[in-house]
Amino acid sequence: MPDRTQTIAYPAPGSRPSRRDEEPLAPHVIVLFGATGDLAKRKLLPGLAYLQQSKFAPDVRIVGSATEDLTVDEFRERARQAVETYGTHRMSDEEWTQFASRLDYVSVSAGPEALAATVKAAEDLLGAGACRLHYLSVPPKAAQAVIAMLRDADLVERARVVMEKPFGDDLASAIQLNDFVHETFDEAQVFRIDHFLGKEAALNILAFRFANGLFEPIWNRNHIDHVQIDIPEELGLDQRATFYEPTGAFKDMVVTHLMQVMSFVAMEPPTALEPRAISEEKNKVFRSMLPIQATDVVRGQYSGYRNEDGVAPDSDTETFIALKVEIDNWRWAGVPFFLRTGKRMAQGQRIISIAFKEAPKTMFPTGFGAEGPDHLTFDLADSSRVSLSFYGKRPGPGMRLEKLSMQFSTQETKSAGDVLEAYERLILDAMRGDHTLFTTAEGIESLWERSAHLLEDPPPVKTYQPGTWGPNAIHQLIAPRAWRLPFEREWRENKPKS
Ligand code: BG6
Repeated sequence: MPDRTQTIAYPAPGSRPSRRDEEPLAPHVIVLFGATGDLAKRKLLPGLAYLQQSKFAPDVRIVGSATEDLTVDEFRERARQAVETYGTHRMSDEEWTQFASRLDYVSVSAGPEALAATVKAAEDLLGAGACRLHYLSVPPKAAQAVIAMLRDADLVERARVVMEKPFGDDLASAIQLNDFVHETFDEAQVFRIDHFLGKEAALNILAFRFANGLFEPIWNRNHIDHVQIDIPEELGLDQRATFYEPTGAFKDMVVTHLMQVMSFVAMEPPTALEPRAISEEKNKVFRSMLPIQATDVVRGQYSGYRNEDGVAPDSDTETFIALKVEIDNWRWAGVPFFLRTGKRMAQGQRIISIAFKEAPKTMFPTGFGAEGPDHLTFDLADSSRVSLSFYGKRPGPGMRLEKLSMQFSTQETKSAGDVLEAYERLILDAMRGDHTLFTTAEGIESLWERSAHLLEDPPPVKTYQPGTWGPNAIHQLIAPRAWRLPFEREWRENKPKS
């Protein structure tokens, strides 16, 4: 018999090597477009500072670029404020000075030659073998101009490019953008980022489902009644009207984060924990989604939105959206996925609730306290948590039932300090060339395609009061079920100690 292991590539031709965690990271010049923007300030600069200071990516230089004309010192000062305000890891003065010396700035208006010269100077300081990571933290409309600039500056070789969401505005623009990007960069160089997939808690869904034998056998329509992915936010526009007004909650959050997370919940077991196998399974989920119908969608706008700076007085942009999604495959047919997110809502939460089918309660008729499904809940907060609720006997005479729960929190573990912020993790993955947690052109195009009806003919926005859970119509959308939030019981660690 011939040795077949020599000829059969596993898991799939061209997909290896899958994980490169152990290999030393090459020195990198990171070109950060949108370097003065909100995301750079809140996440990217603090994250890069941490990666550089820690053992993860010590050998990097960062070239900031944006439309503003700043000197290098002015940019360093902005970066210092960002790291001080939003950084989650303390930096000493010495560490800061060291990091600051790695920052350069070149304004977009200086043109491709100036950009090329600044990158070249940074590469010379890093020495031979430096790679390039171009991070496009810019709105979809500006992405093409940046790609063209990179081409004109001859910064395509040895480069990877990270592109922020939303990737396009609809199917046609996503296809056009993908084609445009592919004229300059190979798909292997492109990393479409969705930071929710870099959250420790989102990855824990994969570990929970596929590393344990307990839950996967019941992870289907025979045992699961419905799923809720609920990401209300307390914060409002936060000076992001220019981005938010043409975008809205569906494009900002749903077609991106919520659906990506949904694919982790709904996918079949991938053949391996590697990019191609995971993308295949995620894309099958997206292809199985039924087109979203306007009748399954509630769009909302908080009262007062139209008076915000930069918002049109007759704006139709939704700041809230709730919808029902159906995945028409053997595992999920008939199991609705309810998705909800919005700005200026009652609480900031990020939960996924799996509601199990109820047991026949003949032994415990109404009044015994056993109403409503058991839930498995994932909290995607930075201190990720998982809770499994079940009915148990209430202590005391007779036989009354009450909801109990088993809970886990990363905070309670010894490794809580090792958690990487989502952007930190994903920037590191991109530098390593690991596509596992990035979205593919095909996946994004499928999602836009399933959203076409809604985008063409969205239902009118309904007003909701800031500090609430959205317009009243959300209850009809989910009836006879109910939204899980607000929680009836708090997570255990929130309870005051007695
Ligand atoms: C971003 C959206 O992608 O995600 C924001 O543009 C939103 O509108 C944010 O507030 C939420 O992310 P996180 O990680 O803070 O939950």
